[in-house]
Amino acid sequence: MPVISLSINGRAHGPIEVRDDLTMNDFLREVLGMTGTKFGCGAGQCLSCAVIVDSADGTSATMPTCILPATEFDKFAIRTVEGHARDGELTALQKSFISHFAFQCGYCTPGFLNEGQVLLERLQSEPIPRTELERTITEALDGHLCRCSGYVKYHQAVRDVVLADPNRFLI
Ligand code: FES
Ligand code: FES
Repeated sequence: MPVISLSINGRAHGPIEVRDDLTMNDFLREVLGMTGTKFGCGAGQCLSCAVIVDSADGTSATMPTCILPATEFDKFAIRTVEGHARDGELTALQKSFISHFAFQCGYCTPGFLNEGQVLLERLQSEPIPRTELERTITEALDGHLCRCSGYVKYHQAVRDVVLADPNRFLI
């Protein structure tokens, strides 16, 4: 069987044997017991299963885990919903999701949270004009599906984090 090693939320995992056909979603949820990452459509269409992949060049992006094998993540550094809070303190984005009542069942929330976090980190290194903010958030969250239709509130929650600290994210 293939052997993989990776970093999850800053912690090293592996070397560990995995079946060729084990999905990354099953690896996280069933092998490691990290059930924060959800399984929705199972077809790469809803992104409820998306995690953050951190690249060596300092950039980050989300990737679905339901359709990709765990072997694809060998040597990767990823972050999941379990890795956002620090010492029990929620991030500004997590607090904003809560204060906006952005989620209902919460099934899509880890994916939206990861995507929103990637966007905030990108805006910190590449600030944008205020006039581009709405479109930028819409484009970033595009592709994440919410059966409870929390789209507007997720959008507002991300926007409020940016507007609460404009010098950090906007030109
Ligand atoms: S569960 Fe992975 S994209 Fe829907
Ligand atoms: S909060 Fe239920 S799917 Fe989004």
